[in-house]
Formats: sequence, structure tokens, C-alpha cells
Amino acid sequence: MNRTACPNLFSPINLGNREIRNRVALAATLTNFGRDNTITDRWVSFLVERARGGVGLLVSEIIAVDPEALAQQAIVTGFDEHNEAGFRETARLVDAAGGALLGQLWHPGRQQLWHPTRSPIGVSEQPDSLSWTVPHVMSATEIERVVGAFVKTAHRLARCGFAGVELHGAHGYLISQFLSPWSNTREDAYGGDIDGRTRFVREIAAGIRETCGANFIIGLKMPGDEGVPGGIDPTESERLTRCFTATEYFDYFSYGQGNFSLSLETHVPDLHFRPGHFIEIHKQMRTASNGIPVMALGRINSPALAEQIITDGYGDLVGMARALIADAAWAEKAKTGRTDIRPTVFDNWCWGEVHMGKPLAEHHNPYLGALGEALSEDCIETTAVPKSVAVVGAGPAGLEAAWVAAARGHRVNLYGASTDVGGRLRLDVELPGRAEVAAILSYQQQMAERHGVVMELGQRVDATTVLDGQPDAVVLATGATLRRPPGLSLDADPVTAADFFVSNHTNQHSAGGALFFDMDHGASAYGVVDLMVQYFDHVILVTPRTQIAQNVNYCSAIGIHRRLHHAQVEIVTAHDLVDYRENTVTCRNVFTGEDRRFEEIDDVIYVTPRIVIDTLEPLLTARVDVDRVGDCQSPRNLMAAIHSGHLVGLSL
Ligand SMILES: Cc1cc2nc3c(=O)[nH]c(=O)nc-3n(C[C@H](O)[C@H](O)[C@H](O)COP(=O)(O)O)c2cc1C
Ligand code: SF4
Repeated sequence: MNRTACPNLFSPINLGNREIRNRVALAATLTNFGRDNTITDRWVSFLVERARGGVGLLVSEIIAVDPEALAQQAIVTGFDEHNEAGFRETARLVDAAGGALLGQLWHPGRQQLWHPTRSPIGVSEQPDSLSWTVPHVMSATEIERVVGAFVKTAHRLARCGFAGVELHGAHGYLISQFLSPWSNTREDAYGGDIDGRTRFVREIAAGIRETCGANFIIGLKMPGDEGVPGGIDPTESERLTRCFTATEYFDYFSYGQGNFSLSLETHVPDLHFRPGHFIEIHKQMRTASNGIPVMALGRINSPALAEQIITDGYGDLVGMARALIADAAWAEKAKTGRTDIRPTVFDNWCWGEVHMGKPLAEHHNPYLGALGEALSEDCIETTAVPKSVAVVGAGPAGLEAAWVAAARGHRVNLYGASTDVGGRLRLDVELPGRAEVAAILSYQQQMAERHGVVMELGQRVDATTVLDGQPDAVVLATGATLRRPPGLSLDADPVTAADFFVSNHTNQHSAGGALFFDMDHGASAYGVVDLMVQYFDHVILVTPRTQIAQNVNYCSAIGIHRRLHHAQVEIVTAHDLVDYRENTVTCRNVFTGEDRRFEEIDDVIYVTPRIVIDTLEPLLTARVDVDRVGDCQSPRNLMAAIHSGHLVGLSL
């Protein structure tokens, strides 16, 4: 076995009286793998596989402490005996895998993410900033009941074998509504000064300590910086930390940023943020916590950064959600110095899925939540009948099909028109702030090299060349191309986003204007606009829809709006593009049919629904089995491309 690559990260730590085998923690991650508020096998496996993958401390996703916390059907109940068998099984298996399991106790209070619960309750009568729900204001008796609900749920988890709980006091939910002067305007014993605002959570912690004993871990996730005027900033967070430290109820603290207002952008900081963006806040809190361990979290991915966090005293534990969604075996790979960690690129795709109420899904981890996930890529079954396989197209779908087929033992030739792998995604990577996406391609390329894929790059192959290799099977991953905007007059001459990108690399800033026509609404479309504002004085964004960024999760969409507003991009919704000549663009209102003209436009750039490129298929099918993957099958998103490549790779 290799030596430990990150010795500090993989040293044990005590939380209260319990030794945790290392400093790697799964930060709470809602999976929506529950069904009818009930634990499923997949819910269990998500946690167990990460324990098998070497994580020391595992914080479960939110568990509802009260019927009023049942925001949607995938959230599991902790307030009754309904899930006890599932809790027991999860705790037993996590324990057997060497991990310590905590349940995250949750009540949303006024903050209603999916739709208002039966009877939203809150601290004060102010509306939730996401849904503008105005809650029923809790009386002192109702507060007492909810304190009891937290304690009872913790006690249930303790009886089921959990090592402890984490109280969810971050992200604007009920506990942080009490803590924050922004949301707590009460004038009774639960509001006002720091003593009043912390009373609710102190009562919960005191009750849990009394009921569950000294060995039961109690952690508190709270705001490090709520990011709203009058809310909890790092100075206030430090004061709160000192106050909680003095109670001696808590075994660790962790700090999440933002709440479900516009500060949500910091809650799951995306690829536009720096790696480890908030570690300084954690260092500050670690000073205040007076020896009580702090879990640093937020946009942490690389083992080197995680090791540095421990070595340089930014935190005592390193919490990660997205890095561990992408790779359940992150910890084991980091420990043994493996370089093949399947990386997160922090685009928040997975976060968007669960916040739409769908099960958690990830771009390039098709085994997410499956039994055996932690070992999945090392255990691809080899074939008894090795074939010769030609994969045409070296974008993410083709690359995936190629390495998986090679891992199965097939002889694989991968043809790519460009000298680099990546296809269309290569351009995406070059857009402002999107460089991290390249990590997905690097991982695939590494896997392709490991499994001996023969790369034939830099040539656009024809059917004869493919057939000359005498393949037994061909995988077509030739992608798709943008269509002209429908309804645009034939003599107009706009350029695709890709053409603009390639041609403008060497151009100087132009004093003129440019118009971007958006029929895509994905994150990279707005990366093109971020690039355009570097070249043009005035950029207009036009879309036929009534809103923009509809294919971007609503957390990262805030960043898109922020950048567009800062760059003074003019946003025009509900308009089609109908003409472009002599520097004048005509757009037509989709409701009224009225035309609107934009003058002094030097360039019109568009992204539109794509057309598959499948010209090779009819020339090949008579001679050999052909599968299509990715955009060439049907133009969709990155996850669909990679998952389809993976499936076809397995099926050969
Ligand atoms: C898909 C997803 C689900 C999450 N669910 C929860 C949750 O149930 N409870 C919670 O406190 N935080 C939740 N978070 C936030 C994470 O715990 C963490 O604070 C945040 O993602 C930053 O860490 P990261 O950069 O390692 O992802 C979730 C994050 C993601 C991406
Ligand atoms: S979907 Fe995106 S943000 Fe989520 S784990 Fe994968 S790469 Fe990271």
C-alpha cells in the first residue's frame, strides 16, 4: 500500500469523546433519494459508500424534526418511528466501514424552498426572501414544542446508533432565523441581544446533551457570513461562536455562507469563486472556538488544499459536499496519493437537480448512490470477447465511451478532429471563469490513457478511414452544430458563439455594440456574454423566453445576473431575432408581434438548439454495428453526454 499522501488530513481527531479516523467530512448533502418521506436503499448507500471510500465523519442530509419541516416527499422524517429501521441500518453499515455518522437535524422555519409546508412557522412575521412566504410567528409555547422536537429526533438517532447530530443553523433555516438580527425581531426572551437570539439553539443543545449523554457528538452548522445587511457577518459569527463555546455543549462548529436571498450565491460557491474561498472565515472562527474543532468548508476539492487547511490551521476538519458527490472514494484516493479523483468542477448542476425536487445526479458519476459506488471505476467488468472499437469524436461523450470500452478490455481507437480532446467543451473551458470545467476532460483523458485507448487526434476521419481499421463496433460521438435562429431572414449574417470566440481571440476591443441571441439558457451561453463584454462597449442580450438563465440552477443564476448587471448588459426578453443588416438588428416581440430595432451593432452572436452531426452513420451501418452517444444521439447537456457514453462503453 502507498504511504499516506496527506498525513495531517489523515490523522485522527477527537470530537468530544469519540475518535474520528481522519479529518475528511462529508458535508450534509440532500440527495432526494428518499421516497414518500421514507429512507430508501439509495439513501443508505449514498452515505455508506462514502464511508467505504474512506470519509471519517459523515453528516447526513437534512432530517425533518417536525411535520412542519416536511418540505417535500423526499425529505426523510426523524420525528416519528417511521424511519428507525433505515436509520439503524445506515448507522450499522457506516460504522462497519469505519465512519462516524451524524444526523443533520433540520427545520426550515419560514424559508420555504419547494412550496410552503402545511403551516410555515417562523421567528418573526417577516417574509422569507426566497418565496415571500409570511410564516405564523411562534409563541413561546410553540418554541418549546419545537425545541422538544429537535431533542426527540436526536434521541431517536442516538438509539438507532448514530454517533451524533449536526444542528442545521446555517443557510437561513429556523435556527439561523433565531440567531440572525436580520430575521429575528422578537422582543421576548428569544430575541434581542446575543443571549436571546442564541437561547433557542442553546436549549436544543442542552436537551440533547441531557438526553443523549456526554459521548453523543453535537455539532452546529451556522452562518460565517450571511451576506445580508444587518445579518450575521464574520464579526457577529465570531461573537456567536464565543457564546456557544462557553456553553460546552458543542463538539464542533462548521460555517456555511449565505441564505436563500441573493446571498445564496455564496452558499454553494460555484466555479467563479476561488478554491477554498471561505477558509479565512474558518480560521477566524477557529480562534474564537477556543479549541473546539472547526470544520472548514466551501469549494474545497484538491487533497493538497485540504491538507493545507489542516496544516495551516484553517480548520480541524475539512467538510466537502460536491467533491464527495463526484467521487465517493475521494478520501481513499487522496490518502494513497492517487491522481485519478473524479473531480467536481463546481458548476452546481447537482444542486440544481435536488432543488428542482429531482434525485441528486452528477455529470460524470453514473453510479451515484448505487451499492458499490466507491469501487465502481476500479471494478468495470472485463469482457470475454474483446472487440476492436472505433470511437469517432473526442468530446466528453466519445472520450467516456472510449475509456469505458477500453476498461472492459476492448481495443479502442479514438478519432478526434481537433488536436485536443474535448470537442465543443474545449471552447466552454476558455470562457471567462469556466476553466475548471477542463478537469472533467483531464480525468477522462487520464482514464483513456490508463486503459490504452489509441488516440488519433487532429484529423477529421471519413467512413473509409474508420472502416479501414476493421472495427467490430463504431461509436459515433460527432456532436452537433448550432442551427440558424429560426425566423431570421436569409441574408442576415450572424455568427455562432463558437465562431465569435475563435475569431475574437486576437481582436482588439471594439467601441461598438453587439447582440447576443440566446436560445440556450445554459451556463456557458452566459460565459460567451462575459467574453463579449470584454470586446464591445454595449452588449444586448435577447431571448424569446420571458426570463434568462432558465437552464442554470438558481444559485449560479444569481452570479450570472450579478455579472450581467455589473457589465450593464441590456437584457431584452420575449423577443425573436428576425433580421440583421447594415449594423441594424430587428427583433420581434413574441406576444405583440411589434418590431424593435437596435442600431450600431457590429456583431450578432447566437446560441440555438443544435442539429446532430451524423453524416457518417449511413455510410457505416451497412458494414458494422454503430451506436450514437452524446449530442450526436440527441443534443442535450453534459451529464447526458457523459452518461450516454458510459452506458454504451459498458454495453460493448
Ligand atoms: C446537492 C447539495 C445538497 C446539499 N444539501 C445540504 C443539506 O442537506 N444540508 C446542508 O447543511 N447543506 C447542504 N448543502 C451544502 C453543503 O453542505 C456545503 O455547505 C456546500 O455545498 C459547500 O461545500 P462544497 O463546496 O464542498 O460543496 C448541499 C450542497 C449540495 C451541493
Ligand atoms: S454536478 Fe457539477 S457541481 Fe455537482 S459534483 Fe458534479 S461537477 Fe461538481
